[in-house]
Amino acid sequence: MHSIRPMDAPFGAEITGLDLNDAPDDLVFGEIVDALHAHGVLCIRDQRITPEAHIAFSRRFGALEVHVQSSFNLPGYPEIYRISNCVDENGKAEGLAEAGRVWHTDLAYLAEPSRCSLLYALEVPHDDAGRSLGATMFASTTLAYKALPEATKQRLQGLTAVQSYAYIYDNITAISKPGRQGLKPLNDEQKNKVPPVEHPLVVQHPHTSAPILFCSGGMTERIVEQTDGGALLRELCDHAIDPAFVYRHDWRVGDLLIWDNIQTQHLAVDDYWLPQRRRMQRTTVKGVAPKAA
Ligand code: SIN
Repeated sequence: MHSIRPMDAPFGAEITGLDLNDAPDDLVFGEIVDALHAHGVLCIRDQRITPEAHIAFSRRFGALEVHVQSSFNLPGYPEIYRISNCVDENGKAEGLAEAGRVWHTDLAYLAEPSRCSLLYALEVPHDDAGRSLGATMFASTTLAYKALPEATKQRLQGLTAVQSYAYIYDNITAISKPGRQGLKPLNDEQKNKVPPVEHPLVVQHPHTSAPILFCSGGMTERIVEQTDGGALLRELCDHAIDPAFVYRHDWRVGDLLIWDNIQTQHLAVDDYWLPQRRRMQRTTVKGVAPKAA
């Protein structure tokens, strides 16, 4: 018997009592989808899932993306992207260690940003007292929009913003610490695969119709209609991550975390390194082109 319990946070919920190696029936899956829309982030605890089960469960939300950085896809399972600071016996990185170091929305740089992502924790780093490190912070873009002054909401009507993979890549490269994995500059093929896109600054959630503030400090390059040197965008991105709208996920091994990419943005906290190991596997579900709210 499973249960769904809201987190002690502005949003997010925990699900216990499910083993995703046994596919949930349609009724239970419907509850999970409703909970995702209601809470934005869901943590399904205590999983020991195979890559097949991770992919099969993820596919029920929609078709899966294959990440542009294919060298970090799990061999034999291109739909699974590895996020990890671990290296193999030859010193070769087993995953992208620097993923998500700045606030962003997964795949917002595509014409059809991701609907949701499902990140599974295989190994979690910890400090000497056993407290987990490498948390993921989430901010609710629904709560952020709701809290804007009415005059600002009016001002944002009709504005569009540029979301860019090259921009977030450069932002992460710029803060990468010496001695870390380091990111190679994007090659032309990778850049051409993902040119910048423009999306409305306030979008309508495709399932709940709620208005969403669709910009993030790491991935949104500029507001197309503004010539203010980026002041409005900075103000909005700072507002979006106000602690009143933030949930911090401290990982446990076996967590499968699902987040709604339209009503949240996130950041991976950089507070650990080898020999502390962090090993995660992510699937990313395709979404639809966002409509202006
Ligand atoms: C990501 O998907 O941005 C990475 C999140 C994380 O590793 O915590």
